Amino acid sequence: SSQTTDAPAESKPIKASTSAEAGKPRVKKSPNDFIFGKVIGEGSYSTVYLAKEVSSQKEFAIKICEKKHLIRERKTHFVMREKEVFMKLDHPFFVKLAYTFQDSERLYYVLTYARNGELLSYLHKLSVFDVPCTRFYTAEVTLALEYLHSLGIIHRDLKPENILLSEDMHIKITDFGTSKVLPLGEDGKPVASSEIRRKNSFVGTAEYVSPEVLNNEPANFGSDLWALGCIIYQCLSGSMPFRAGNEYQTFQKIVRLEYSFPEGFNKDAKDLVSQLLVLDPEDRLGMPKTGGMSALKAHRFYAGLDWADLPNTTPPKLM
Ligand code: ADE
Repeated sequence: SSQTTDAPAESKPIKASTSAEAGKPRVKKSPNDFIFGKVIGEGSYSTVYLAKEVSSQKEFAIKICEKKHLIRERKTHFVMREKEVFMKLDHPFFVKLAYTFQDSERLYYVLTYARNGELLSYLHKLSVFDVPCTRFYTAEVTLALEYLHSLGIIHRDLKPENILLSEDMHIKITDFGTSKVLPLGEDGKPVASSEIRRKNSFVGTAEYVSPEVLNNEPANFGSDLWALGCIIYQCLSGSMPFRAGNEYQTFQKIVRLEYSFPEGFNKDAKDLVSQLLVLDPEDRLGMPKTGGMSALKAHRFYAGLDWADLPNTTPPKLM
């Protein structure tokens, strides 16, 4: 049990005190602490509002879920998972959970406001991204995945809709309702759990879903790398690699790896995408067997990129 493996309390490192611990008591916020503005996002079980915190005049995105609806639709695990993941995250490329509170009808998640909205809107507006923009934005996604996976978290629904953009045009990944959290061992590495293989009802979005998810295999970090491959393809070509008239036809194309590159597709990107869109997840670039994330970051498509400085780099203008 976890009790026997827990370190004795006195040997635990002393946590640096946060502002809340050092004097300023953290009081639970309430809807009255905010002025609610327009709706900036809508999901199947939530609505996101732009809101301003009265005390600080800071803007936030507040995700509101109706409790009755969550219970009726059996979606409570999604919101619990999302909160669990948000609380683990502390990285510039992710939306941050500032506060949570509730009233008798609703749950409130107060999140970073990503002022420039979805990466998808830019893709729609511009049709395609040029090579420097694709390099920059997919590199940020790669760095974000490296961080997420180091925490043992698989996003499982990575797509340009869930990649938001901050005021300074860096990425802020969101939407962790369908994420999977793997337990971490003593070495801090995820342990291969002998989990009950549930009838893995499909999670994610048809066009970005990996073949192993369609084949009901357990969740894997490789599923996010598959999605990365789809996103690189989409940025450069303007359309998704596996697209058909309906979901079933899309799934057929995915499990048969039925896709092709349009003429003029960047040669290095083509090589990279071909190493990500691979049927066996273990064989994808970025997985341990192929050299891990450092091999992905060393790919020729990203040659010369200053990975460590990415969060401080001025993004290339999307055009
Ligand atoms: N839409 C959904 N979540 C959002 C966020 N955190 N910022 C901006 N728009 C959003």
